[in-house]
Amino acid sequence: MILFSGTSNESLAQKVAVQCGIPLGKVEITRFIDNECRVYVQEDVTDKEIFVLQSLSQIADQNLVELCLLGQALKQLKAKQVTAIIPWMGYSKQDKEFRKGEAVSAQLVAKFIEAAGFDTIITVELHSENVTPYFHIPVKELATRQLLSQKLNKHARMIVVSPDKGGKSRSEQFAKAIGLPVVYLEKTRDLQTGAVKILSTSADVKDFDVVIFDDIINTGSTAIKSAQFLKAQGALSIHFLATHAVLAGDASYQLSKSLIDQITVTDTIFIPRQNMFAKLNVISVASLLVKNLQT
Ligand code: R5P
Repeated sequence: MILFSGTSNESLAQKVAVQCGIPLGKVEITRFIDNECRVYVQEDVTDKEIFVLQSLSQIADQNLVELCLLGQALKQLKAKQVTAIIPWMGYSKQDKEFRKGEAVSAQLVAKFIEAAGFDTIITVELHSENVTPYFHIPVKELATRQLLSQKLNKHARMIVVSPDKGGKSRSEQFAKAIGLPVVYLEKTRDLQTGAVKILSTSADVKDFDVVIFDDIINTGSTAIKSAQFLKAQGALSIHFLATHAVLAGDASYQLSKSLIDQITVTDTIFIPRQNMFAKLNVISVASLLVKNLQT
């Protein structure tokens, strides 16, 4: 087996390689002067089982093309089986036509990845159940609830809060796995501006420690507005858990000065030093990926 890394999350690929006891496959990924990507695989991959780790994080377009070029190069070199490990499936948020005339990026990205020649995919916590059916190759989706709940000190006055309708089943599975009750927020998002509003809660949260389990922190609005609302209703503390730390724009700054007490995310997306802040904890998904590399 050989593991190659794209350039989007080399530190996670390195951790996976170390845990597997293998070096990373040799590949040169460069850019031409006009910024087009060039991929040059420098290993004998013929008849071998190959993995390529690449998150479709910012800049998603570039990282997607890089992944596809890696897939194509490896297939040309007659690799036996090529698996794309995509810890964060970028472009998956547009998983349906929200407004007539909008492109369904999740569907097209699935086609790109398949066209590149990948045989199978391992990914982590997809944004919704709409995404997997867009692929015609096997997709193994790994759940992070166990990993992210590791450090919770569960007690009688702790509840799980589902931040929105889309997160209902995710939150319910999480709450069930750790044996806590779940309360639902009613959230709206303006499709034009992206502004988030929390309107109501399904039950009293006064004097409870709240755990919110979400898939993504993008702009941070869901996390920040939920915390504001819940604290105004008397919640004691807010621990926000999310798998993917997209942290777009000034999200890190806004989250650092928000009412959230603790945030725990994973390293499916590489977080640069300047986006780290005191209440942000990062747990690695490396061991979860390693356990699931058998195809
Ligand atoms: C919503 O459908 C998702 O599960 C997340 O709650 C959302 O994408 C987070 O985005 P933001 O951080 O911009 O509120």
